[in-house]
Amino acid sequence: MTRIPQLDSKTTAISADSDLIFVFQDGAKKPVPPKGPYSGLISKFRQAGGFEARAGSTQFVAFSGKGKAKHVLFVGLGVSGDLTHEKARQAGSYALSKFLGEKTKSVNVQVDSLFEGKNLKDPMSFLRAFGEGMVLSAYKFDRYKADSKDEVIGPSKVSYVSKNKTMHSALSGLAKDLMNVAECVNITRDWSNEPCNTGIPEYYAKEAARLAKAHGIKCRVLTEADAAKEKMALFLSVGAGSQHEGRIIVLDYHPKGAEKTVALVGKGITFDSGGISIKPSAKMEDMKHDMTGAATMMGAILLAAKRKVKNRVIAILAMNENMPDGKATNPSSVVRARNGKTVEIINTDAEGRLVLADVLDFAHDFKPDCIVNAATLTGAVLVALGKQCCGILGNDDGLIAQLKNIGDQNYERMWQLPMFDEYLEDMKTDVADLRNSCNDPYGGTIRGGIFLKQFIKKGMPWAHLDIAATGYGMGHVAYYPKKGASGMHVRTLAQFAAEF
Ligand code: BES
Ligand code: ZN
Ligand code: ZN
Repeated sequence: MTRIPQLDSKTTAISADSDLIFVFQDGAKKPVPPKGPYSGLISKFRQAGGFEARAGSTQFVAFSGKGKAKHVLFVGLGVSGDLTHEKARQAGSYALSKFLGEKTKSVNVQVDSLFEGKNLKDPMSFLRAFGEGMVLSAYKFDRYKADSKDEVIGPSKVSYVSKNKTMHSALSGLAKDLMNVAECVNITRDWSNEPCNTGIPEYYAKEAARLAKAHGIKCRVLTEADAAKEKMALFLSVGAGSQHEGRIIVLDYHPKGAEKTVALVGKGITFDSGGISIKPSAKMEDMKHDMTGAATMMGAILLAAKRKVKNRVIAILAMNENMPDGKATNPSSVVRARNGKTVEIINTDAEGRLVLADVLDFAHDFKPDCIVNAATLTGAVLVALGKQCCGILGNDDGLIAQLKNIGDQNYERMWQLPMFDEYLEDMKTDVADLRNSCNDPYGGTIRGGIFLKQFIKKGMPWAHLDIAATGYGMGHVAYYPKKGASGMHVRTLAQFAAEF
């Protein structure tokens, strides 16, 4: 198991292996020498035409001057007026890989150098983004490798250092929060990356109970018998072919005086073989990630609890395995949902909407003020939107606008797809109230959404995030792992839980 760098803050710097200095290009697009002992070095690079301080560029040099560090890493941030939070996040990631390559053990981030950016509005927000880029890059899923070591990826200690004493409490708050962000995002990643033979519903139920206890969150686990008592026949129909029993995990973070309740619902298919409508074998191994919606909501509620947000947050994780078997549900089966509607199961591979239908209905029992669900629901969302954003659908434009806005702030972007009533026509059948799939190959993400909508009661604000494209395989982004789960959307959902 790997660990993340420990972040803290200091006013008087105890010396570290390396200093980190931010450099802007504010002087006619040329690097501006930072104040302090390293200004001469930058002038030298400038004359030599070397380090230009473009955003994301780095220069690692040995230092034998008056300062105390043996090395210094210059991190270019470009023209300060053009700096975006995402560029800062990427710069954080590049800085971490540089330190990793150089085997640097301790770093002092000289924060005051960031404040030299002339046109930087809200510099603290850039320090946050830079820090996110660093800590989110320190992840490896190696628990099953023989050479797995208990070691930190990158420097074991990173300190935010400022000479300005009034900054100290803000910096230490930021450092602590960044550690919490990394810890929770990494829990989401670990959950999603867990292989399907070990990552069975019971495993996640135990992990959830353990993590909940450590964070003052109540946890109740429903077994299949409990689900049967709750009349969740759709949920049960999906797991009918599995040797592993399904679980519904209910987490309740309930701070005193909470006025609003946010319900977070996650699809947790621990392996999606497609069931009797079996999938082709190419890339089928990726379907261990089909519980990433549940993993994302787990990370989000933990981060909300660590931050002690004022709202009550409920997370409901529907864990089940979709397998073919003699006992598995066959296409043409008609099953009655918890809300009384009957569903003709045309395609057992459209299982996510079946488990969600019952737990979305169940979520209303907690009388939340809104319901947000996350699910790797359709391959079609990759066709529609690619990997730059997830799909968002729902019944409340205000709720969707707020989620999109927070998503933008975190660069976990969302794009709204329509839910015109006409799409529902495709989900009708002569045999039952609804069918779970139709033959039309187009607009699949919308049809998934419109199906879920049938299980949301009138007046309940609801949004559905289809994260099939963004939940894993995001290696093109610097601070996400090259392979496997990304942990995307945890930061947005935790912030949403606080701000709703
Ligand atoms: N888990 C899949 C969706 C998925 C596909 C996620 C590819 C990630 C990558 C889901 O259960 C599924 O199989 N959906 C079907 C729906 C169809 C049968 C209506 C799909 O997307 O093809
Ligand atoms: Zn499926
Ligand atoms: Zn699935």
